[in-house]
Amino acid sequence: MSENGVQAPAEPDSVAAWNETWKGSLDASPPDLDTPSLENDIDRLKLEFLAPFLGKKGRAVEIGCGSARLLARVGKAAPLELFAVDTSPAALAVARATSKAIGIPITCIQSDARHLDLETGSFDLVLSGGLLEHFPDPRPVLAEMVRILRPGGVFYADVVPRKLSWYRRRDLFRMIRSPWMLPGVYESAFGARYYRRVLEELGCVDVVSRGCGVYPARNPRKWLRYTERLDGTAIGDLLGWYFMLSARKAG
Ligand SMILES: C[S@@+](CC[C@H](N)C(=O)[O-])C[C@H]1O[C@@H](n2cnc3c(N)ncnc32)[C@H](O)[C@@H]1O
Repeated sequence: MSENGVQAPAEPDSVAAWNETWKGSLDASPPDLDTPSLENDIDRLKLEFLAPFLGKKGRAVEIGCGSARLLARVGKAAPLELFAVDTSPAALAVARATSKAIGIPITCIQSDARHLDLETGSFDLVLSGGLLEHFPDPRPVLAEMVRILRPGGVFYADVVPRKLSWYRRRDLFRMIRSPWMLPGVYESAFGARYYRRVLEELGCVDVVSRGCGVYPARNPRKWLRYTERLDGTAIGDLLGWYFMLSARKAG
């Protein structure tokens, strides 16, 4: 039994499962960052949250980058040097296509989030999106993300916990039945409070979380327009389907 009470294998090796998932996107176009869509609306909200932390220079890295869509948005918003890390060669191929599509260089590195081949204190901004919930014990990943930050550097993550929410209510049966949301892909139930505590233990300050995404699975974009103001409120924490985290490494 893992710490959050969900029965899960000691440490699932999801690397192959993720690579299979990304292989399906290899022939597809890179993510469309402009056409109106729920994903692009959510990205806009993530960028609004991140904007106060974006410097005029420095190095940003996205861990578990997938298509690197969030990193691409960061690169469009601020002139940072961009790095993308994933275990999946297929994901990194998609990240390269994203880089080409936006016309901003991204250095793609194949590395495991639990043991990053990156120098200590070498980044100003370390990001992850939809990564941390896939580890029964996310602490080694958090520790690595904080290790590679320079003192005073910014940590950002968004997390989709295994919990009942308005948007994901149809996943409830799947959540109850199995910790494997996709074949080979585990999802933990750790909430924002858990991550805030671990980040503080790792020497971070100004640790903040924001519960987000209060809308139903049907017509979410229509509702988001009205409900986005609930992000960051107690209702957002309770009914939202994901949360964002930010912190600074003590300097
Ligand atoms: C849900 S996807 C998120 C992708 C992207 N960040 C996004 O928000 O669209 C999780 C990503 O984490 C990567 N991943 C899973 N385990 C990893 C590990 N141990 N080290 C590095 N990346 C990993 C997967 O290959 C996948 O691309």
